[in-house]
Amino acid sequence: MIHGKQLVTVENLKNGRGELHPVQQAMVETNGSQCGYCTPGFVMSLFSLYKNKNNPSREEIDDSLTGNLCRCTGYKPIVEAAATACVHHGMDEFSEHQPHIATLLKSIPRESLQLQTGEQLYLRPTKLSEALSLVRLHPDAFVISGATDVALRVTKKHEILKEIIDLSGIDELKSVSDKSDVLTIGAGTSLSDAMVSLRIEFPALFYMLSVFGSQQIRNIATFGGNLGTASPIGDTLPVLMAYNAKVNLSSSSKRREVPLDEFVVGYRKTVRRPDELITAVVLPKMKNGTIVKSYKVSKRKDLDISTVSGGFRLDLDENNVVENIKLAYGGMAETTKRASKAETFFVGKAWHREIVEEAMALVGREFSPISDARSGAEFRSVAARNLLLKFWYETAK
Ligand code: FES
Repeated sequence: MIHGKQLVTVENLKNGRGELHPVQQAMVETNGSQCGYCTPGFVMSLFSLYKNKNNPSREEIDDSLTGNLCRCTGYKPIVEAAATACVHHGMDEFSEHQPHIATLLKSIPRESLQLQTGEQLYLRPTKLSEALSLVRLHPDAFVISGATDVALRVTKKHEILKEIIDLSGIDELKSVSDKSDVLTIGAGTSLSDAMVSLRIEFPALFYMLSVFGSQQIRNIATFGGNLGTASPIGDTLPVLMAYNAKVNLSSSSKRREVPLDEFVVGYRKTVRRPDELITAVVLPKMKNGTIVKSYKVSKRKDLDISTVSGGFRLDLDENNVVENIKLAYGGMAETTKRASKAETFFVGKAWHREIVEEAMALVGREFSPISDARSGAEFRSVAARNLLLKFWYETAK
């Protein structure tokens, strides 16, 4: 996956004279160290911040560190190190060898890659048509792009993935098209890149992505991957449902568009056939007055999986009566699931607290969540009901 890219390791940060990089020096001066595993990680995150931002805000500093959270110490000295080191002007002396590296990188041909070892086949096509032929030939292959989910099978479970098709080299899948009525996001677009287009017209999705994993994960995780894994707690699914999103699927011979509500059919199962690939997510723009909100309940804000999540959509008429409502929940069943009884109950009724409380009881009866490492079933049930109340609080006139 790093073919054609530059890999910078922490050992490589010193300059030619053997001096520490400014972010390393600042870590030393502020006593910003953590354990031997975490400190190099923090240094590399600060290095990335240093490269990308001059004089970052506190929010940008915090966000840049979200991929390195542990539970051992405080982060104040590290934040201080970031604020001190990341104030610079233009090229730093530590970039002196960069032009040479840039030339080297450009000289590597951007062509398809095929690596076969005794146990594994890794394929990285550069064209969608080529990728579609490959999935037809290798229907059991793991299809990845950022691999932020699938890679855990390797790092945590030590599995050997026999066949891998990596879509990250296909530029056709990385485009975002903004038309008057729909926003279409290519399945290979990183979540960070997609966020740029979502802030104004799809704020509930923007919010959900801002608390999705960490900045490091969002930089390589993709919409296609998040939908393709069909995780029951995939953070984006409920809010995408609330936006009435659709998924574009292609095979070598056919294209089709599937409403997101029909896309996931079981635990980590979707309607995608083995010879198809997800090519885009389509977000219809909303008419004036439609409200969409998203909620994530987790043990901490960053780098945490949802315990319960919600994506809710509401249309009220001029008399404050519910015309349409959609209540999609994650973490409450083996797939993202709508509270359809509560939805039906609401239609034609006033958007009043008493009605909402009756609907909350229906939500409680509609789901049978499980207890697991993240939470007990009872907590999930209470949280799901209360998210509806919160939604009402935030939208009641
Ligand atoms: Fe490394 Fe907490 S400081 S695990």
